[in-house]
Amino acid sequence: MSRILIASDSADLRGKVATAAGAPVSVIAGTALPAGPPQLFQRLGAGAPIPQVVVIDTSTGLDDALGLSSRLSAECPGMAVVLVTDQPDALALSALRAGACDVVHPEAEVPEFAEILRRATQVAAASAPQNLADGAGSGNGDSRGRVISVVSPKGGVGKTTVATNLAVGLARSAPHSTVLVDLDVQFGDVASALNLDPEHTLLDVVRGPAVQDSMVLKTFLTQHQTGLYTVCAPASPAEADDVTSADVARLLQTLASEFRYVVVDTAPGLDDHALAAIDQADELVLMTSLDVPGVRGLRKEMTVLRDLAIAVDKRHILVNFADPRSGLTKADAEATIGASLDLVLPRSKAVPVSVNQGLPLLQSDTRDPMTKQLRKLVDRFTPAPMRPAPTAAPVTVGGRHRLRRKRVKA
Ligand SMILES: Nc1ncnc2c1ncn2[C@@H]1O[C@H](COP(=O)(O)OP(=O)(O)OP(=O)(O)O)[C@@H](O)[C@H]1O
Ligand SMILES: [Mg+2]
Repeated sequence: MSRILIASDSADLRGKVATAAGAPVSVIAGTALPAGPPQLFQRLGAGAPIPQVVVIDTSTGLDDALGLSSRLSAECPGMAVVLVTDQPDALALSALRAGACDVVHPEAEVPEFAEILRRATQVAAASAPQNLADGAGSGNGDSRGRVISVVSPKGGVGKTTVATNLAVGLARSAPHSTVLVDLDVQFGDVASALNLDPEHTLLDVVRGPAVQDSMVLKTFLTQHQTGLYTVCAPASPAEADDVTSADVARLLQTLASEFRYVVVDTAPGLDDHALAAIDQADELVLMTSLDVPGVRGLRKEMTVLRDLAIAVDKRHILVNFADPRSGLTKADAEATIGASLDLVLPRSKAVPVSVNQGLPLLQSDTRDPMTKQLRKLVDRFTPAPMRPAPTAAPVTVGGRHRLRRKRVKA
């Protein structure tokens, strides 16, 4: 099987392309053209080779063909598009603007098709990223990005608020290099916090064609206007069971090979998905509210992680909802947790407003004490030579790859 795909209703044309390719080609025929890369990969099915050259017959619909060409060119590095049209000269400029590398008449002879396919294959090879991390993200010489998981023992302490702001803040410092994954699989609200209407969700990226190739996976992500990529939670809580911890581990590893920063929002507690997110984390953001049950809960969670011998390179302990009138001080919290707090986030009226608007504080740049603290959080993950290194306390064992689990207690 060649890595050439022909989208055409014409058996003649399909046959000619296969003959010119000198090997069987993948075929999409019979119905309307796929709207974009995810639909194209879904039509091809899991296991089909990822095409290097896509030949689109414009007679199935010129606008759709140009639209598909534009999206393939923009979203699929390492893929070249050839348009087939009975008016190659008239279409040349539109084809160029739609990112196609060539246009050809359907009546062209097989040798001409063969030459066009050969050139298109070269164009595709030349545009293929050496290392996909360079295209999307890391570009820092280190081929693997950092997985930052935001966790808490209790619900409603501000994980989603922090995860979305951190991700937006990182995306603004390094556009197209950050992905946010909503691992609150049942009731995740990242999409709402970012005012997104995702076409694809977590289920689509752990199943089907997205699993086999990181470039395909990227086309299933939802893009936010800041350049942040997101994997939103499934629409229905019932679908949560279909996502296993092995799926989560594989997804986070793949994303870390593509993006500089992989921020993970989780459900409260230590369910399987949260544990997988912790397992894969290079850095852990541990959160609690500044109240007695919250602080005690965090101490318990840290004890459990220690017992499980789960550890990461760095941890960042955050308390949220700090309020001078609560009667609980930073020192009280530190004494209970047995560790120093890395950041204290104030209770702020600006937060619910931003959540309700789907506009994170670090996107709107609202002047507020919470915004200031969130910027400090982002600074802990971005390189800044003039800034002192984060004071994250060292943990028992280092690194995701060095993660050891001595014994696992339920
Ligand atoms: N510093 C803050 N000041 C005021 N309100 C806040 C603050 N942080 C979060 N909130 C509000 O608290 C609520 C819970 O926040 P968020 O959804 O971020 O918590 P969560 O830990 O993700 O919750 P869950 O565990 O249910 O997923 C939201 O309505 C949010 O607007
Ligand atoms: Mg949440």
